[in-house]
Amino acid sequence: MKLSRVKGMRDFYPEQMFQRRWLEDLWRQVSLRNGFVEYDGPILEHLELLTAKSGQEIVEQLFSLTDRAGRDLAIRPEITPTLARMVNQRVESLAKPIRWFSIPRLCRTEQPQRGRLREFFQWNIDILGVDSAVADAECIFVAVDLLRAVGLKAEDVVVRISSRELLAAMLKEAGFSAEQVDTAYRLLDKQGKIAAEAFEAQLQQVLTDEKLREGLRRITSYRTLEEIMSQTGLSSQSRAAGERLAEVFSVLKTLGVADYCSFDIGIVRGLAYYTGMVFEIFDRAGKFRAMCGGGRFDDLLKALGGPSMPAVGFGVGDVILTEVLAEKGLLPETAKTSEFYIIDADASLFNKVLEVVARLRASGRGSEFSYKRTSLGKQLKAAAAAGARRCVIVGQETTDEGLVSIKDMASGKQERVLLEKFLSNPEQVFE
Ligand code: HAM
Repeated sequence: MKLSRVKGMRDFYPEQMFQRRWLEDLWRQVSLRNGFVEYDGPILEHLELLTAKSGQEIVEQLFSLTDRAGRDLAIRPEITPTLARMVNQRVESLAKPIRWFSIPRLCRTEQPQRGRLREFFQWNIDILGVDSAVADAECIFVAVDLLRAVGLKAEDVVVRISSRELLAAMLKEAGFSAEQVDTAYRLLDKQGKIAAEAFEAQLQQVLTDEKLREGLRRITSYRTLEEIMSQTGLSSQSRAAGERLAEVFSVLKTLGVADYCSFDIGIVRGLAYYTGMVFEIFDRAGKFRAMCGGGRFDDLLKALGGPSMPAVGFGVGDVILTEVLAEKGLLPETAKTSEFYIIDADASLFNKVLEVVARLRASGRGSEFSYKRTSLGKQLKAAAAAGARRCVIVGQETTDEGLVSIKDMASGKQERVLLEKFLSNPEQVFE
């Protein structure tokens, strides 16, 4: 029986695993240095939690199941509902603001395509308990901190930022009802993902009133926030939302990341729970879909049975980020490095090799050896292939005088030392 991998699921051979760990380590480092602490939740959640406030798109992408007791469950497609549930459960005792990060493994039944799979990892950063433009901007700053850490420059990637509050106020001014505002969000979220003709066809289909369609086209034609703010007839709601967004941009400038950021009224996000500032990160060349998405979601905790609590955050997926990094040559090569490689000058000394290996490993030192009893030269080659830093050569002198030769692989220098002295401090040689 020959079975293949399940559609959209991922195998991580050592090469991919190395890159995954490298990225996860950076995610963790960046989170910690920005003052976030790690949490995680379960793989399975009640279906109800995941469908409650996230919106139709994600509901259609759930891997759902019924357990033996008849409970409706689903594999988490995102961790934000879990975060809201966990915070709600302990809301009294948690110190505010809550600054948490997580790197969950997620599943969505998306049609597998370039950059979108059915299984992926997603770095999440969230700040709860603060409603301020500073927290909005800080979130974006943390995302840019990661971009810089992986070597992506402002000319490579762009953070497109908007505000749902602003868009909603402008749509209302253009005559949209609350329901039509939601329709407009769904439509706009698709705009960048489908062809222009297909978008126009959907626009005609869902907004039958030409006046509304015209209003939407006019709103999405604005290229800068200043252009919007200079409108004389702007409602007070639109003005207030615009000013708040302008504040976010001002803080981003102070934080030194303005060159990565630009305003884009077309960013609305596919998830339903966003309430204010929203953003997505793309490669500037426009080859890939978003590598990051986030925003303010002030109503989610309350909607899931908790108290009213402002919140802002984002998620960065590993798939597109890795593709962009591969394209720019920024992914690290799989590096296998070994500290010590123990070699015998004669096959009869192999037991001594194993002894040295065991003692080094017991003291926490990485050490390897060859399974084949071959020549010294061949074993040295194997050591180089293993990326060994130093070789320990066991010879007749080891049996006779307790001596070994240590060879530094980078400099080629070789020194004879007493084996016991070497084992008591393996770093002392060549000092
Ligand atoms: P999202 O936009 O659904 O947001 O996902 C964020 C990122 O996860 C995307 O930009 C993309 O890089 C990656 N991603 C999503 N779906 C897939 C997929 N099928 N395959 C590969 N990568 C994918 C959220 O999930 C929000 N919960 C983020 C958030 C946290 N908002 C506030 N806090």
